[in-house]
Amino acid sequence: MRLDRFLAEAGLGSRREVKKLILKGRVTVNGRRVRDPAYRVRPGEEVTLDGEPVPTPQGPRYFLLYKPRGYVTSTRDPHPTVMEFFRDVPRAERLFPVGRLDRDAEGLLLVTDDGELAHRLLHPRYRVPRVYRVRVRGEFPEEKLRAFEEGFVLDGRRTLPARARILERGEEDTLLEITLFEGRHHQIKRMFRALGFEVIGLKRVRFGPLELGHLRPGEFRKLSPEEIQRLKLTTASARRPR
Ligand code: URA
Repeated sequence: MRLDRFLAEAGLGSRREVKKLILKGRVTVNGRRVRDPAYRVRPGEEVTLDGEPVPTPQGPRYFLLYKPRGYVTSTRDPHPTVMEFFRDVPRAERLFPVGRLDRDAEGLLLVTDDGELAHRLLHPRYRVPRVYRVRVRGEFPEEKLRAFEEGFVLDGRRTLPARARILERGEEDTLLEITLFEGRHHQIKRMFRALGFEVIGLKRVRFGPLELGHLRPGEFRKLSPEEIQRLKLTTASARRPR
């Protein structure tokens, strides 16, 4: 990590402020004065400011939240937001949700402070799969499933081919599983509306390699190191546009 970033992440000021400290010669690395803000701090090196050790800033954090219905996927809103669940997490103000679920939708939401990975995961070029359980009113006919593979024109652009299958037929509704490879505004609802169906329940159960699993609404957990690794690989292996 660059020295200026190291100091900023340790909470010693903005990047601009800490650069000044470095240029003034107030910072040492392993006992040597360093005046280059771009100096690469390696793990284990000891950084001091005015002779005082600077604690190593923590790396990015990754949480998986079961977003309940009724919460807005945003960091700021007049309505309750998903960030309310993270109130007691240190440096919660740095966290943000990756992508969006509608206020009346529920399920898996990744929350992190890793802006770079978030940006990649959301980029349509990486085709990160998002799996939804969708309940629609009425009986959904098998032959209409094809429409998801063919795509829909939304806002003048065709959607990427999606996967769709029927999971359950009820008396008054149908439960489907839809897999999208991009995330457009109200995408599922608009696709079904185009086919003449109303979505009455929407839950995301998978995002890339992450599964909602046994979390309950409002619960969150840290991702395991393996999950973080797999998330990173999701965007590393699909770097070439397909
Ligand atoms: N599609 C929708 O319509 N809403 C969501 O929240 C997610 C996908």
